[in-house]
Amino acid sequence: MTQDKEMKLWGGRFTKQPEEWVDEFSASIPFDQKLADEDVTGSIAHATMLGKCGIISLEEADKIIAGLRILQEKAKKGELVYTVQNEDIHLNMEKFLHDEIGETAGKLHTARSRNDQVATDAHLYLKNQSEEILELIQTLQSVLLDLAKKHVYTIIPGYTHLQRAQPVSLAHHFLAYFWMLERDKERLSDAMKRVCMSPLGAGALAGTTFPIDRHFVMEQLGFTSVYENSLDAVSDRDFMLEFHSHASIIMMHLSRLSEELIMWCSEEFQFIEFDDTYSTGSSIMPQKKNPDMAELVRGKTGRVYGNLMAMLTVMKGLPLAYNKDLQEDKEGLFDTVETMKGCLSIMAGMLKTMTIHEAVLKEKVENDFSTATELADYLAVKGLPFREAHEVVGKIVLYAIQNKMLLRDIPLEKYQEMHPSFDTDLYEIITPYAAVNRRNSYGGTGFDAVQAALKKAEATLQHS
Ligand code: ARG
Repeated sequence: MTQDKEMKLWGGRFTKQPEEWVDEFSASIPFDQKLADEDVTGSIAHATMLGKCGIISLEEADKIIAGLRILQEKAKKGELVYTVQNEDIHLNMEKFLHDEIGETAGKLHTARSRNDQVATDAHLYLKNQSEEILELIQTLQSVLLDLAKKHVYTIIPGYTHLQRAQPVSLAHHFLAYFWMLERDKERLSDAMKRVCMSPLGAGALAGTTFPIDRHFVMEQLGFTSVYENSLDAVSDRDFMLEFHSHASIIMMHLSRLSEELIMWCSEEFQFIEFDDTYSTGSSIMPQKKNPDMAELVRGKTGRVYGNLMAMLTVMKGLPLAYNKDLQEDKEGLFDTVETMKGCLSIMAGMLKTMTIHEAVLKEKVENDFSTATELADYLAVKGLPFREAHEVVGKIVLYAIQNKMLLRDIPLEKYQEMHPSFDTDLYEIITPYAAVNRRNSYGGTGFDAVQAALKKAEATLQHS
């Protein structure tokens, strides 16, 4: 029991203070101090509105705002000493404001509750963070685009089922990720509409008796709409769930790319090599150069998915309106934001500095059967139904495997024995270059199609 402690800001109704460890258990200040800037920003808008609406005097509003600005500076410099006795960022700030300007500080919380305050802070945080994340995605896209521009004519094996399928331009492969990220940006931007909703003025749950101006506060905070319903405003976390979902999809994309890069730098593939600055060694095996950064991006994807599941689970049984369970929304959100920002940056650095082994790629694509489709198409063009052509070429591939040959090693007589429509021009169309070059259907890997795609990607990046 800690009877001798300073009274709580909500202590009027109580005769005893909570146990110290109860304070510690319920406090969110160890993590929500991250919202210091947003908290002060919300309070400045609220105080401005209280003054404008005559709920407090303009002098009082000015005094409060001046005090808040001092706190904002102190918070930035790390000069504020938070305490768990003051529970959360809101009560800590109120206490600091009191220390800064005295009794007038007590007027700031007029027509406001921590319930609409914390929701406001979270909306502001996600607005700022979404903007930063959009920038980071954009940077990663430009790295992919630069790589694509350099590698239009670098041909790599294209896979399905992780089996060699058809050769593709490496630029086409990079651009696939470019467009995934473009949709990721679209999703985050679409969600901004709901991130930029103002809960402030909803009070604890039922609105307020004071003549407040919620739309004024909305504008002050750079939000674009207000919650229509006070119960909804204080207990909605959909906007966070949307962010968690979008973050999970972004991480899934980064994880797929990581997985490919990890394979590509293995001894088995040798398509790329990460720069030393993005690699680590083994403490026992001197020869090792590990793609730890890509593995971490892949691994951290699990954390981000976990945060989505945690939040969905926190929300599923909550009656209206605010419940303390909602305090559990913050750590996962911060973690997802920080994790994703780190992953986006590291991925851009990794890609920018890696070496692409063009000679190895050339050697690989020239020594497999991945141009077999060309032969089937060749027969189909000559009038054979594609199914039949497929069957004929399947037999040719089988013959080649059994005789340890590649398609180009099989003599024309043998081809003609398999089907009379074959002619000498077949040897030209089964080169990887020709296979890629001829696939100019819209969105395909043909060099012309890829050049057009590069232009489109470039324009898209410039307009976003
Ligand atoms: N620290 C709380 C949270 O993060 C702030 C809101 C507290 N409201 C309350 N009525 N206890 O959710």
